[in-house]
Amino acid sequence: MTLTKYECSDCMQKFLKELPKCEHHLHLEGTLEPDLLFKLAKRNNITLPPTFPPTIEQCKTRYDNFSDLQDFLDHYYIGMSVLVTEQDFYDLAMAYFTKATADGCLHSEVFFDPQGHLERGISLDVVVSGLSHACEDARTSFGTTNKLIMCLLRHLPSEDGLKVIESADKYYQDGIIHGLGLDSSEKPFPPELFEECYALLRSKFPEVALTAHAGEEGDYTFVENSLDKLKVTRIDHGVNSKHSESLMKRLSEEQIMLSLCPLSNVKLQVVQDVGHLPIDLFLERGVPFSINSDDPAYFGGYILDNYVAVHTRFGFNLEQWKQISLNGINGSWCDEGRKQELRMLVDKVCSKYVDVL
Ligand code: ADE
Ligand code: ZN
Repeated sequence: MTLTKYECSDCMQKFLKELPKCEHHLHLEGTLEPDLLFKLAKRNNITLPPTFPPTIEQCKTRYDNFSDLQDFLDHYYIGMSVLVTEQDFYDLAMAYFTKATADGCLHSEVFFDPQGHLERGISLDVVVSGLSHACEDARTSFGTTNKLIMCLLRHLPSEDGLKVIESADKYYQDGIIHGLGLDSSEKPFPPELFEECYALLRSKFPEVALTAHAGEEGDYTFVENSLDKLKVTRIDHGVNSKHSESLMKRLSEEQIMLSLCPLSNVKLQVVQDVGHLPIDLFLERGVPFSINSDDPAYFGGYILDNYVAVHTRFGFNLEQWKQISLNGINGSWCDEGRKQELRMLVDKVCSKYVDVL
């Protein structure tokens, strides 16, 4: 397939940076940069396995050569083993919020994987306390907003997921955790395995926000079954929805947002190039999507890098970028007041650039 490449001029880069952005697909454990990883390993006296790259440079080389999602996950779960104390989780999340703010990301909905920590003997209280304090401090220091979303690991039994949901009850009650997601190895673990987990949480908290990874490596029926069986209102990735006209029609009619992750899809060999993603098709069909970084420490870029990568492949104009930004706001789980504020900021930035782009 031949690819057109578009220039992302200095002016366009400035515009994309200023354009108010919302991030909906970000694993906090996936923001663990190698320098922090080695620092925490030292601080917590953790010896990484001999197969783990021993230097920052060797980590980067490893990150350029993931063969697929599972190959990445095998590394990612070892990497997160350096996270032990409340302070570690705080430092991790604060580093992300600092970078996201510098990129012009004004609202972040961030995932964490409690089971990846519980199985190492780290309590949910330690994890949530560190992460939620960082969320609070990001709001006060940067004026940005955020939501915490707990994910279940689909390679673990659903009974385990049920237990985690029970133990997180107080955090859902207090609104400290806002939603539920489903991640990890997709193809062998279809969404219907987790029907009971999602039903349990919905029965306790009917208004809870629900999402699931689907259609990253799995086919488009994973997206349909996440909607039908888990009753999610958002889909993480969902790129394989492109294979079904009727599904795209449904996503458009029901305004179900896909949280796309372009650089991740290239690094995990979902596509060979960002230009092969169906981003223009989704825009044309009215399928709402946002652009996200997934695991930026591993995939070579934060949210702005993903926006720039999309621009260099699709060359969107100001109106199209405005639509993408507004779709991200509409699909966010913040309140209507905050959405209104963000929409006004979008108008302001777009007016500033309308004559120069
Ligand atoms: N966990 C972290 N990143 C993930 C991804 N891209 N897909 C599934 N699970 C993940
Ligand atoms: Zn993800």
